[in-house]
Amino acid sequence: MRRLSLCVVQWIFVLFFVGQVASSNSAFQPILPRASPPRSNNGLTTAVEWDEYSLFILGNRTFIQSGEFHMWRLPVPSLWRDIVQKAKAAGLNTISVYFHWGLTNPRAGEVDLTGINGFQPFFDAAKEEGIWVITRPGPYINSETSTGGVPGHVTWIPGDPSWDLYNGELRSNDTFYHAAWQDYWNGVIGLIAKNQITNGGPVILCQIENEYYNGPGQNEYVDQLRERAVELGIVVPTFVNDAGEFNNLVNDTDLYGFDSYPLSASNCGDRDPAVWPEIVTNWRAYFDATVPGKPHFFPEFQAGSADNWGSTGGYVNCRELTNTDFQRVFYHQMPNDVTLNETLTFRYTVGQDNIMVPQNGGNLTLLGRDSFVIATDLVFGTSTLQYSTAILLTSLNLDGSDLLVVFGNAGLAYEMAFKLTGAVTLNVVGPTEVSGKAINDTYILNFPLSPGLTLVHLTLSHGQNIAVLIADYDAATQLWQPTIAGSGTFANYVGMSASTPLIHLALWGDVAEMTDITIFGPEDLSSLEWNTLPVQNLKQTGKGTWQATIPFSTPSVSLPDLDSATWRFRDSLPEIQPDFDGFAMVPANQTTTTSVFPPYYGEPWILYADQYSFHAGNLIWRGTFVHDSNTTAPTAFNISSSGAVNYVASVWLNTNYLGAADTRQRTNNNSFPVSEELLVAGENHVVVLQDHMGGDLSGQDVCCTPGGRARDLQQPRGLQGYYLVGRDASQQFTGWTLAGNYMGENHPDTVRKIYNEGGLYGERKGWHLPGYDDSQWEEQTPFQGLEQPGVGFFRTTFTLDLPAGYDIPLSFVFDSAVGQYRAQLYVNGWQMGKRIANLGPQTAFPVHEGILNYHGENTVVLSLWALANGTDDMRIPSFALVANGTGCRGSERIIRTGRN
Ligand SMILES: *[C@@H]1O[C@H](CO)[C@@H](O)[C@H](O)[C@H]1NC(C)=O
Ligand SMILES: *[C@@H]1O[C@H](CO)[C@@H](O)[C@H](O)[C@H]1NC(C)=O
Ligand SMILES: *[C@@H]1O[C@H](CO)[C@@H](O)[C@H](O)[C@H]1NC(C)=O
Ligand SMILES: *[C@@H]1O[C@H](CO)[C@@H](O)[C@H](O)[C@H]1NC(C)=O
Ligand SMILES: *[C@@H]1O[C@H](CO)[C@@H](O)[C@H](O)[C@H]1NC(C)=O
Ligand SMILES: *[C@@H]1O[C@H](CO)[C@@H](O)[C@H](O)[C@H]1NC(C)=O
Ligand SMILES: *[C@@H]1O[C@H](CO)[C@@H](O)[C@H](O)[C@H]1NC(C)=O
Ligand SMILES: *[C@@H]1O[C@H](CO)[C@@H](O)[C@H](O)[C@H]1NC(C)=O
Repeated sequence: MRRLSLCVVQWIFVLFFVGQVASSNSAFQPILPRASPPRSNNGLTTAVEWDEYSLFILGNRTFIQSGEFHMWRLPVPSLWRDIVQKAKAAGLNTISVYFHWGLTNPRAGEVDLTGINGFQPFFDAAKEEGIWVITRPGPYINSETSTGGVPGHVTWIPGDPSWDLYNGELRSNDTFYHAAWQDYWNGVIGLIAKNQITNGGPVILCQIENEYYNGPGQNEYVDQLRERAVELGIVVPTFVNDAGEFNNLVNDTDLYGFDSYPLSASNCGDRDPAVWPEIVTNWRAYFDATVPGKPHFFPEFQAGSADNWGSTGGYVNCRELTNTDFQRVFYHQMPNDVTLNETLTFRYTVGQDNIMVPQNGGNLTLLGRDSFVIATDLVFGTSTLQYSTAILLTSLNLDGSDLLVVFGNAGLAYEMAFKLTGAVTLNVVGPTEVSGKAINDTYILNFPLSPGLTLVHLTLSHGQNIAVLIADYDAATQLWQPTIAGSGTFANYVGMSASTPLIHLALWGDVAEMTDITIFGPEDLSSLEWNTLPVQNLKQTGKGTWQATIPFSTPSVSLPDLDSATWRFRDSLPEIQPDFDGFAMVPANQTTTTSVFPPYYGEPWILYADQYSFHAGNLIWRGTFVHDSNTTAPTAFNISSSGAVNYVASVWLNTNYLGAADTRQRTNNNSFPVSEELLVAGENHVVVLQDHMGGDLSGQDVCCTPGGRARDLQQPRGLQGYYLVGRDASQQFTGWTLAGNYMGENHPDTVRKIYNEGGLYGERKGWHLPGYDDSQWEEQTPFQGLEQPGVGFFRTTFTLDLPAGYDIPLSFVFDSAVGQYRAQLYVNGWQMGKRIANLGPQTAFPVHEGILNYHGENTVVLSLWALANGTDDMRIPSFALVANGTGCRGSERIIRTGRN
């Protein structure tokens, strides 16, 4: 993919154009209406205020265009600045971020704001690059992350019997739950408060809770969170994000918003991207009725959508579903009928003069899946636009000319009218043919738009100058308006900065090939720098335009061939052996539970992993029973295993594989027949290996009982039933042990944190980590695989020496062949992927630099869990490291180590 992002500009500047580079983002800088009183604030600060249309930041009306970023999904803090720069270059003025309670407060009493949880570098980057930040610390965040970010030690807090017979209500004013969020709130809110705009930081808003509801104990809880945040120093406005038009918590915080995913928030891969469903169209009326006097606010408005395990189309569908057509229609305005895809022609009356446009007698044309905004009666600089049927991108002053940048579809006709009197000289440079005509006190431009860029100068007899830069959609996506840095605390913020005379232009950006750039700027531009190096070939090509070529040489990228690499192998299922020593397993010996989801059957032990401090990753249960002449031989082993939708479980009796539970359900009930020859005299062992697909999100299942939304967070992962069929109650199991991630909540990996590992023997032993000595392991490849259903670990190492100064995104790619196996990918100890070969759809797993060492040794480990004994179930057919394109770049990357 060819891609460009352009980031920081020191000193000054205006606008430049990059040729031969595709990008889906336009550098959209809204032209802001003048401030109009009255505006409101929360009594704590005037730095961020609002009226019914927008926020005001430091007194300046600011429409928020924000993108969402989750730092934990990019666990390389040195890459965060790159994200911030790209977001800004793409035209956003704000980034919103969630914080992850479970990662930062992995066990009661510990708040960890180090390493990938150390958010200060992100705030610093945002401030230095000039982009505002909306913070969303939850505590519950949903975010398609396990239990919506609520840590395992909290989801299983004991109940307050006065509130709920079964359990303390999570996400309520329950006493125990109230105590549970204090440490996290103190730590994270303290950090956010330090970075507020009032302290010179980028933070302008703070969200309280997420997608939550009115209810007894629930409103009180949200109020407690907000009050405590204020005590901890939050002065910027707080807000809630309702899950829809539900009137929840409307007055509990300063501002109110709701989220909307018009094309569905999940399973985009299963949708036909050619079909847009009917959507609600009453957003505006709802906001006006619900929060009169406050801005219309979508804390989440569909950008993409989540894809699910087993989707048929995968991300290719998702990208098409919410592509640039979607953005043009849904971001420009609240459409009426989006189901149609047909071209409309019409005429329309616009503006305070009620003019029927186009005035030249033609039609306006609206293509299917497109939209446009006709700007009217707009003052820019000293000039006045009466209307424009071409869409406005931005305006600026260039050498005394008021410059307006507009765009539209190549092949369609547009009309613009300016309020002016007197003779006009028209000068047109570029492919679009433009005609001009004076009618009374207006001057009208008409043009059928051609691909590319056209610069039009209107020179007026009295010395005023107007310039119009006309672009088609494609060309507009390649226009970038860097910040004109000013001085002071907010020097790099759009709308806050002051321009200075231009002498030297320093640009920073990425290109993927030799690239021509066109610069529209003042006459006195004399030199250009690209990524700190002087560009020698800058030349002026017209009034206010320059061209230069950014050099690029294709790097030579050499990647290892993992198919022919040396792999070392070890079996990872010693738990089925009779003499297994019990390494890193704990007795599953609790007999009571506070879960609102009681066990179905099985006495007396509660086999729910969270109760034993295991909250993520694979789980291994090992049950013991006695077979001798005094007992009846069981005829079957029955379990109800639970691991969330799409989990699986494999079951062994002693060393014999009994089979798998693999139905895509959240719970499976299976009876595995047991014949007497599988039994041994004395102690017998049943081993159940299951995976854990994350904790449920609120409202995923039990949505509609009081408090039900929070109860889902307690859906058990483990065995909800266990029973030896053919035996009575006195001859059941004598005990169970359990393995989860090494040491559970006391996990030793302070670098990669609590969610990185599960309970496979190899994970408990650290076989996934770099530096583990595998020299005594036998040579065997994942392509040879296993000889029977079970689990094996395969390790290989390789050295990368990739050319410096380039972005070279890499992915590990599994074969797409179907097989009943599950594999985990560990890169330098970081778990970077899970391949489910009979479900998919994902086969390619991107791994960023900073996880991969681009200039040194790397350790790649695959765990292979074969669930059946077909050849395709017991091996990974192929596995490759591939490059996904190259581009230049500038930031420094780091590589880290972890537990060893
Ligand atoms: C929580 O709020 C409910 C509903 O107002 C109230 O009945 C209850 O006493 C509160 N609980 C605590 C611990 O404050
Ligand atoms: C919120 O407060 C406003 C102003 O006091 C009031 O008119 C409105 O009814 C309240 N809304 C809700 C849902 O409580
Ligand atoms: C919409 O219509 C245009 C023009 O007929 C066509 O090219 C395009 O493929 C259609 N889009 C969809 C998603 O059907
Ligand atoms: C404008 O569109 C209408 C149909 O909407 C059509 O009848 C008319 O001929 C068009 N006029 C021009 C000038 O193309
Ligand atoms: C121009 O102004 C004259 C005099 O006011 C008016 O009669 C005429 O309709 C105007 N023409 C247009 C195209 O608005
Ligand atoms: C807008 O921001 C600028 C730069 O920070 C500041 O000088 C100005 O006072 C602000 N307010 C208004 C109303 O312009
Ligand atoms: C369960 O096992 C742990 C670890 O051996 C032990 O400390 C604890 O006392 C046991 N609890 C019960 C109820 O037997
Ligand atoms: C069977 O039970 C009898 C009587 O309680 C006992 O003497 C014998 O040792 C038991 N046999 C085994 C194998 O435990």
